[in-house]
Amino acid sequence: QWTTSSIVEEQVARIREQVGDGKAICGLSGGVDSAVAAALVHRAIGDRLTCVFVDHGLLRAGERAQVERDYVTATGVRLVTVDARERFLDALAGVTDPEEKRKIIGREFIRVFEQAELDLQAEAGGDKYRFLVQGTLYPDVVESGGGAGAANIKSHHNVGGLPDDLDFELVEPLRALFKDEVRRVGLELGLPETIVHRQPFPGPGLGIRIIGEVNATNLEILRSADAIAREELTAAGLDRDIWQCPVVLLADVRSVGVQGDGRTYGHPVVLRPVSSEDAMTADWTRLPYDVLERVSTRITNEVAEVNRVVLDVTSKPPGTIEWE
Ligand code: XMP
Repeated sequence: QWTTSSIVEEQVARIREQVGDGKAICGLSGGVDSAVAAALVHRAIGDRLTCVFVDHGLLRAGERAQVERDYVTATGVRLVTVDARERFLDALAGVTDPEEKRKIIGREFIRVFEQAELDLQAEAGGDKYRFLVQGTLYPDVVESGGGAGAANIKSHHNVGGLPDDLDFELVEPLRALFKDEVRRVGLELGLPETIVHRQPFPGPGLGIRIIGEVNATNLEILRSADAIAREELTAAGLDRDIWQCPVVLLADVRSVGVQGDGRTYGHPVVLRPVSSEDAMTADWTRLPYDVLERVSTRITNEVAEVNRVVLDVTSKPPGTIEWE
């Protein structure tokens, strides 16, 4: 029988065979796929794997700690974090066009990752990291072979989804697996539930959830609002019922409000809870009113710049899940 532990055993053997006594590098995104792929490779080759986590400053509250603390504790993996927050902010200054943002983030990510690899190589006395670990799943393999589809609507950027012309040999231990199998492998390898059952989060992060300029102020506003929404959805036990719930800051929009005796002129945030099987189509999730009320009250009370919370009730199509 094809059990989870036999998948692990077989992949570990294959990785050992492929990598031999070489060294591998893996970009962690905080997502399930790269986390499980790296954990498998770590089980196979130990400290000859180095993981790189790029903090591009577009992460949600607590995400960096989740990788640096929870993931490292669970796996014992050797992790290098690159703090590239300023670099991304500089590159994104003044940019509001969604595709331009995506291209900049993708480009900077590759540059930062390449530099990290060069630094690691120098540290290892010039010895090259020959192998790159990728969390490619079976549906990714099929999709990129298929060509058409959603790929043309947005230039998706996958953290770890580095271009082919980088000078690495790929190690892709999840290539034959579906998402649910990947999650089971993750649990088998002892990864925390918070990582194994994490909802999807786009590679360009909060950068494509700010309608308007991505700057430190807007990121801070969105990060606070998003943390509240996630906290309340988790507390209500809804994490497994919804596919994901982007929170979007309309930084280019202001509306008049009132708080105490004072007029406010603040920004709206949008809640975008969706239900989906595969993100190709989606329906808006009918969240309970009391949960919506708590999220709305808390965000407008706790995040000074936000004076209005609105709900997105559009399915996909015609809306996409993310706003950019
Ligand atoms: P859309 O907005 O196209 O999103 O309906 C479909 C799913 O993909 C996620 N998404 C991304 N994931 N890099 C990613 O890794 C990206 O650039 C990206 N853009 C969207 C989105 O969160 C949803 O789950």
